[in-house]
Amino acid sequence: CMQVATNVTEQKHHVSRAKRGQILGHLRGFRGCTVWFTGLSGAGKTSIAFELEAYLVSRGIPAYGLDGDNMRRGLNQDLGFSKRDREENIRRVAEVAKLFADAGQVCLCSFVSPFAIDRELARRIHRDSDLPFFEVFVDTPLDVCEMRDTKGLYQKARSGNIKGFTGIDQVYEKPENPDLVVKTIDCSVEESTMQVVEMLQENGIFP
Ligand code: PPS
Ligand code: MG
Repeated sequence: CMQVATNVTEQKHHVSRAKRGQILGHLRGFRGCTVWFTGLSGAGKTSIAFELEAYLVSRGIPAYGLDGDNMRRGLNQDLGFSKRDREENIRRVAEVAKLFADAGQVCLCSFVSPFAIDRELARRIHRDSDLPFFEVFVDTPLDVCEMRDTKGLYQKARSGNIKGFTGIDQVYEKPENPDLVVKTIDCSVEESTMQVVEMLQENGIFP
C-alpha cells in the first residue's frame, strides 16, 4: 500500500520555457511535447517511435523515446500486467514524459496502454502543465500482430504460458478520439513515421 505525500508544495523553477528553448538544439525554440503511441503488442509502436526519434535528432530537434519494454526493465521493474499494474506503469511513465517535455524534449512514448482511462490520465498530466500531448493509435489488426509475432509472445499467450496478454485474454480499448491513426499494413515504417512528422508540423511543433 502506498503512502500519500503530505506537506509538499510545488517549487517553481527559475528557468522559463522560452529560455530552455533558446539553448536547445539546432532549430531553436521550445518544442517540448509528448507523442503517445498506443496499440497492440507487435503493432509497430517501438519501430515508429524510434524511427521518429532518429528523424528528429538528425534534424537537430532533441527527442527521446520511452518504451514499454525498456521502462519495465528499470523504473517499472516492480510492475506486472494486471489492470492495476498497467495503470501504475502508465501513470509513472506519463509523469516522466511530462518532465522530458518540460525540459524541452519531444518525448516519444511507446506503450500498449490498453485502457482509455490511463491514456486520459497521461493526457491530463500534460494538459495541467500546458504541454502538448498527441495520442497516436498504431492501428494494426490483431491477426496481423499475431501473424508477425516478432517476440513469440502471442504463441506463448495462446498456449497459456502468458496470462493477461493484450488482445488474447485481456482487453485493448481502442482510442475513440486519437490525434492520429497510423496504419501499418501496406506501408513502411518510414511512411508511418512521416505521417506523425506531418501531424507535428501541422501543430507547429517544428517547421
Ligand atoms: S502496458 O499495457 O502499457 O502497461 O504495457 P507496456 O509497458 O507497453 O509493455 C508491453 C510490452 O511488454 C511485453 N509483454 C506484454 N504486453 C502485453 N500484455 C502482456 N501480458 C505482456 N507481457 C509481456 C511485450 O513485449 C510488450 O511490448 P510491445 O512492444 O508492445 O510488443
Ligand atoms: Mg515495442
